Amino acid sequence: MDKEQKYIDVTQQIMAVTEGEQNIVACMATVSCLLSEAFEGFFWTGFYLVDRGKPDELVIGPYQGSLGCLRIPFGKGVCGTAAEMGTTQLVDNVHDFPDHIACDSRSRSEIVVPVFNANRDLIAVLDVDSSNLANFDKTDSNYLEQIIGQVFGRCTIRPN
Ligand code: SME
Repeated sequence: MDKEQKYIDVTQQIMAVTEGEQNIVACMATVSCLLSEAFEGFFWTGFYLVDRGKPDELVIGPYQGSLGCLRIPFGKGVCGTAAEMGTTQLVDNVHDFPDHIACDSRSRSEIVVPVFNANRDLIAVLDVDSSNLANFDKTDSNYLEQIIGQVFGRCTIRPN
């Protein structure tokens, strides 16, 4: 099955399982699990939440994979850059990214998608890492942005 078809199937699955669910942590756990099960190249799949107590910092949320760093300041690494700019970051080789945070040295490429709620507040970022170089492309960013928009764009509350 090609990547596009896998995304079509996993999007359908995610929307079916999270239908009517307003709890953001429940939705994040479900999205991380189903994405990580669907794609072999997804080595680490999860969310960093905007910390309400320290709004210029991200704190670890639900994820699948090896141990993630607990906190990432805005502007630092790929996640911190996506949070600061509010735009998706696609990185073919993490070693070329200034300030990259190596939670696990096996991670070689990554994509980070900002997560906004219904009020357009940034509430988190979705971080997907791969042990392959250049694992992600425009297909990934299109579908991941669509999934994140559909699931979290309807939520009105914050996760923390
Ligand atoms: N790769 C991220 C750090 C988080 S972990 O890899 C789980 C980054 O540079 O933002």
